Amino acid sequence: MIDIHNHIFPNIDDGSKSKEMSIEMLKNAYKQGITDVVNTVHYQHPMFQDIDLSFDSIYKVSQDLQNEINQIGINIKIHIASEVFYYDNLLKIKNNKLTTMGNGKYMLIEFHPNNIPVSQKEVLYNLKIEGVTPIIAHPERYRQVQKDINYVYDWLNSGCLIQIDAGSLIGLLGENCMKTSRLIIQENLCQILASDAHNNAKRNFCLKDGHIYTKSILGDKADLLVYHYPKVIIEGGNISL
Ligand SMILES: [Fe+2]
Repeated sequence: MIDIHNHIFPNIDDGSKSKEMSIEMLKNAYKQGITDVVNTVHYQHPMFQDIDLSFDSIYKVSQDLQNEINQIGINIKIHIASEVFYYDNLLKIKNNKLTTMGNGKYMLIEFHPNNIPVSQKEVLYNLKIEGVTPIIAHPERYRQVQKDINYVYDWLNSGCLIQIDAGSLIGLLGENCMKTSRLIIQENLCQILASDAHNNAKRNFCLKDGHIYTKSILGDKADLLVYHYPKVIIEGGNISL
């Protein structure tokens, strides 16, 4: 499996707190059958203003961690990207090496849980026109989506992809997230399951359990969400739904 959304790098954002924790998390990921992870540092998130977002420093952290896990036989490839907090500046930052994945073709975008601004429709449309496909991070966690699933249909109709947190499906993020994420799976509106792992406790990798749930609803189509689509994304290929 390939996990395109997590915070495994130590002491960068609100993710892993130490190199030891990162290694523990990756051991767990490896046991679940994860072969590739994309660390998605919080980019321009209002809560994390002091992060060093230079590509070179993030790349160095990635190399260090990759070397560590190679030495102890954890056979996972680490990639770099961001979880970009939504502002209407997305077109201006799309050429930053850190803000996209798959050779600049995909951008993982999160909203504030209580605020999906009206401007997002036009901004995401323009981003898509410019060749960057928006991936909406964990829509099940946004209050407005919990009330109105049509947000998800609108995003899909405008060419965005939908990523659900595996933990939402198995109840780790509360009742509302579980209900909404399960509805999105049942309606077959999700292309990517990801762990959004932050630590080695409650918010660890749980992609396997999320996949098992998804398989119980969608059968073999569930494999698309953890193998096929994430692979196409990190390789910078095209996805047509
Ligand atoms: Fe995240």
